[in-house]
Amino acid sequence: MGLLLALRLLWLMPLAWTLGEYSSLEHISRKTIPYHKDNGHLFREEGVWNYSTMLMREDLGLLLLGARDVIYALDLDNISNKKASVKWEVPKAKQTECIKKGKDAEIHCKNYIRILHTRSDGRMYVCGTNAFDPECDLLSYKDGNLILEKKVEDGKGKCPFDPFQTYASTMVGDDLYSATSINFLGSEPVVMRSSPVSIRTEFKNSWLSEPHFISMAQVPASKGSSKGDDDKVYLFFNEAALEYDSYSKLVVSRVARVCKGDIGGQRTLQKKWTSFLKAMVDCPVPESRLPFTIQDTFLSCDPQEPWGSCLFYGVFTQQPHSPELTAVCAYRVADVSALFSKGKYKNPLPVETSYVKWVMYSGDVPSPRPGACIDNEAREQGITQTLDLPDRTLQFVKDRPLMDQAVLPVGERPLLVQRGAAFSRIVVDRAEALDGHKYDVMFIGTESGTLVKAVNYDGTSFIIEEVQLFPSRDPVKVLKLSEVKGHLYAGSGYAAVQIPLATCGRSLSCMDCVLSRDPYCGWDRTTSKCIAHLNVQRKLIQSVKNRNASLCPVAGTVTPINESIWLRGSLRLPCPPPSNLAVVSWQRDTLPLTPSDHFQVLPDGLLISNASASLAGRYRCTSLERSHASVVADYRVGVAAGGGGPTLQAQQGGPSVAGLQATVGILVLLLAGLVGWNVYSGHLPLPCKRRDESGCGSAQHAMLEAGKKHSGQGISGRNGENVVHRPAEPMQFIDDESEI
Ligand SMILES: *[C@@H]1O[C@H](CO)[C@@H](O)[C@H](O)[C@H]1NC(C)=O
Ligand SMILES: *[C@@H]1O[C@H](CO)[C@@H](O)[C@H](O)[C@H]1NC(C)=O
Ligand SMILES: *[C@@H]1O[C@H](CO)[C@@H](O)[C@H](O)[C@H]1NC(C)=O
Ligand SMILES: *[C@@H]1O[C@H](CO)[C@@H](O)[C@H](O)[C@H]1NC(C)=O
Ligand SMILES: *[C@@H]1O[C@H](CO)[C@@H](O)[C@H](O)[C@H]1NC(C)=O
Repeated sequence: MGLLLALRLLWLMPLAWTLGEYSSLEHISRKTIPYHKDNGHLFREEGVWNYSTMLMREDLGLLLLGARDVIYALDLDNISNKKASVKWEVPKAKQTECIKKGKDAEIHCKNYIRILHTRSDGRMYVCGTNAFDPECDLLSYKDGNLILEKKVEDGKGKCPFDPFQTYASTMVGDDLYSATSINFLGSEPVVMRSSPVSIRTEFKNSWLSEPHFISMAQVPASKGSSKGDDDKVYLFFNEAALEYDSYSKLVVSRVARVCKGDIGGQRTLQKKWTSFLKAMVDCPVPESRLPFTIQDTFLSCDPQEPWGSCLFYGVFTQQPHSPELTAVCAYRVADVSALFSKGKYKNPLPVETSYVKWVMYSGDVPSPRPGACIDNEAREQGITQTLDLPDRTLQFVKDRPLMDQAVLPVGERPLLVQRGAAFSRIVVDRAEALDGHKYDVMFIGTESGTLVKAVNYDGTSFIIEEVQLFPSRDPVKVLKLSEVKGHLYAGSGYAAVQIPLATCGRSLSCMDCVLSRDPYCGWDRTTSKCIAHLNVQRKLIQSVKNRNASLCPVAGTVTPINESIWLRGSLRLPCPPPSNLAVVSWQRDTLPLTPSDHFQVLPDGLLISNASASLAGRYRCTSLERSHASVVADYRVGVAAGGGGPTLQAQQGGPSVAGLQATVGILVLLLAGLVGWNVYSGHLPLPCKRRDESGCGSAQHAMLEAGKKHSGQGISGRNGENVVHRPAEPMQFIDDESEI
């Protein structure tokens, strides 16, 4: 089929063009930070799961956290500090009913908090799945207590029935905008506004086709509008595309928008949106055949700039959902807005009896423009509300809610592409660096429970670090930002964590501090520390764009460490690379180390084995990053005669051989005595007699596993910035339609 071929070519063409610059598109995080309890504050309660809904109440100094069957009020400064909580459990009878309908008591028939918004009176609106019977209530915080007001409302159409179903919502004034399924089976999707006059979408495939709702945000387009424009609510989602004629389902990302003042039509589209328009959202990643699908968005605005310059940051994953490539694309709100207000529509064209082709509409477009908000031009025609819109306009938009063109990202390509854990959530902070410029710092949660911190400098993204947020590798389900507090809050199935935006303390040297390119951080000469520059008056060293580490004071020399090794023994000289982008090299007596059977360069050190006397000398390990070299470790290695003895790693000093031998002898005797006594008194089991005896093999297995893990980690962390990249997979052409 012609269209299908065109589609293939469309996805393959960028690949051919950008294969050359492909390696510069894929990014490697400069540092990989494992989980540590000091990385931030953790909150979790025994027996409570699914910390997946958050509401920032900076006015109350609280973080509202919705989990399974409970809502917490936590201290924004330290979320380990619980201020209050309120249970909202499913009544027994309702749970029984839920189980009778074939749902699981522990998994589905619980109350998962899904919606938490602040109303204009300061109270909160909260909804939960309530054992597949969603309900909403009002929540207030008074005298240090959280109170559910028991003013229960039906949650249908506001909150999903199924805790595993995606949804989106936002509150504008006291009106809830929601996108979810309105029935038990989850088969009837709606986008609606719950207000005195409730408005929703038409139940038509062309409006919503098996959607997965992602996010919603409002844009105050009426502010400063010369055309008397209305505010808009934008919605991002994925859905099965109707416009591509492929046999299997093709999922595409969409952005839709409605006008705040929409109250539906008079005869046509009664109590339905008259302003629901949608367009495809494209995040063109080279090397991918199918479009990437959107997982989350964040609306980033500079309060000093007009709303049109706001950016929607979106995270995308590959389809079918596999942890291969994952990307960030940013869309200018003005571009999205222009596409809806000036773009062409797609028109459904019946081709055969049951087959519809969607092509660009090139006929006359009625006035007022279908799907447009009521503006001054409409008012001049005597149309002051959507009820006054003519049927012709309404019928047009009812039949053609899809725009012809796709929304393209800024620069027409992704800001960031990573191979690894799929991106799941994103928030963006505008940080002012010491060069006076403001940079958007992206904080991206992943399906493996990590947080990626990245900045875009002059069109190239740089990943400062990737931090493991939780002790377990649970996906990040929610991510919120408090600019006021300078902290991030993330939630997962297992726990919630709070971590600072600025993590300068991780850099211990000036070079590391400068090369980290973190706009929050600078090197303080007086204290010799990498610190957050906010509210610091002293002049700090920072070079986010040029990463000019020559600005740093000359680093002191590394004190050599004395090591000694037995003849034919082996010795490991540690040299942890300061960053994943650094290339480490070894010198022996000022010359580059010549490879031989005696040396094995490890990811984090050098292993000398089967030592001979000639191996004695000076061993230096140097790291090179961005042509800035620094000595990481320096060793003086002596080789002790009298080989055959056990390997010994002396930390310092060169003890005499005889002394060493005597010490070892005494230690061996002591150890034998200790083991003997322990076996005798039953503290230690005797060695296994049979192989299948429990405990015997497993300890060995565990050690092997640990060893594997260790080496695996090291290798993955050793990629150079512009060094070796995995070759792009060969292009795959599809010869058979059934392969799609
Ligand atoms: C945070 O709160 C927890 C619990 O109240 C407390 O143990 C911890 O010391 C606090 N941490 C800081 C840095 O204040
Ligand atoms: C709740 O959390 C658990 C533990 O992480 C997870 O296995 C489960 O899928 C979560 N349930 C939902 C509905 O997200
Ligand atoms: C880096 O800093 C040094 C010292 O201030 C300066 O001489 C040099 O020109 C700088 N290089 C770049 C590329 O900015
Ligand atoms: C150790 O080195 C000696 C000579 O230096 C060599 O004869 C011997 O085969 C080596 N042993 C092993 C196990 O490589
Ligand atoms: C290391 O050995 C050298 C001589 O090889 C000696 O001068 C130095 O004091 C030793 N350093 C330490 C810390 O023992």
